[in-house]
Amino acid sequence: MTDTLQIAARLLPWYDRQRRDLPWRSPPGHYADPYRVWLSEIMLQQTTVPAAAPYFRAFTERWPTVEDLASASLDEVLVAWAGLGYYARARNLYKCAQAVAERHGGRFPDTEERLLELPGVGAYTAAAIAAIAFGRPATVVDGNVERVVARLFAVEEPLPGVKPKLRTLAATLTPRQRAGDYAQAMMDLGATVCTPRKPKCMLCPVAESCAARAAGIQEELPRKSAKADKPTRRGTAYWLLNPEGAVLLRRRAEEGLLGGMAEVPSIGWEPGGVPPLDVAWRALPGMVRHTFSHFHLELQVLAGRAGADWTKAAGIWVPVDRLGDQALPSVMRKVVRHALAHV
Ligand code: ADE
Repeated sequence: MTDTLQIAARLLPWYDRQRRDLPWRSPPGHYADPYRVWLSEIMLQQTTVPAAAPYFRAFTERWPTVEDLASASLDEVLVAWAGLGYYARARNLYKCAQAVAERHGGRFPDTEERLLELPGVGAYTAAAIAAIAFGRPATVVDGNVERVVARLFAVEEPLPGVKPKLRTLAATLTPRQRAGDYAQAMMDLGATVCTPRKPKCMLCPVAESCAARAAGIQEELPRKSAKADKPTRRGTAYWLLNPEGAVLLRRRAEEGLLGGMAEVPSIGWEPGGVPPLDVAWRALPGMVRHTFSHFHLELQVLAGRAGADWTKAAGIWVPVDRLGDQALPSVMRKVVRHALAHV
């Protein structure tokens, strides 16, 4: 049986010794600034710890408080966010900063319930802020925590159906004291010791309480439902060069997949139109393949040269050697590489 009381008692001293030194963390036993917790958690939903750190430093140097961020312009925030992707999240970030500044006098609410009312703040972020910034015994559950809990209790039912059960079990482990340090200890344990493959049980402070390890099945958990095969969508991307050696990009619609991000104009897989120019298109050999969370995409790339009417195209022309400065989503970086290899 997993001894629930033992888990936090073992994990917290381990965290005090081994915790990762991350820019948004406060010293052990101290509550962190809710603004910094909120900002880091939103960034970490978008990217990894090493990738988020420089953005976090840049944001907090430029906008040290939530009120500073709220009084920036949306454009400044979007430009600073570029490279993290998903502009919809940056828009919500800005909206949330304004809500905190205007509705709450610049102070984040201190309960999960009221945090949930803020734009872009879901169950995970609300629990993380409540625990880490305010010491509330909220249970913070992300993918790392699900894996740790599935192993501690040897839960064999597959994800995603078993999520509610894992959440309930996770809640039984949350201590009333130091809930924020405990939440981050679980994250660190999942990221550095209780890893998806080859967990380092020899280094684990709670190995003795781990039911999966006792049964020798830690590497098999958490199980996942056999995935229904993802559908494949097919589309066409248009690689258009103008006489000055620049490529046409445009901004995707705000709503929907890759909302607000730049793209090589493409059609077929999502709503969109062809550049309305008189161009002799040439199909490049091969295909660009990319997998999104719920479908595979195959893009054929057509290349063309715009004539004298190139200035009429809607979008922005970017010199080929400046494409690296653009915040292009991964699928579009693949299109660029494919075109450059074949044109
Ligand atoms: N991943 C998401 N939030 C985190 C945090 N506060 N510390 C470490 N890793 C995280």
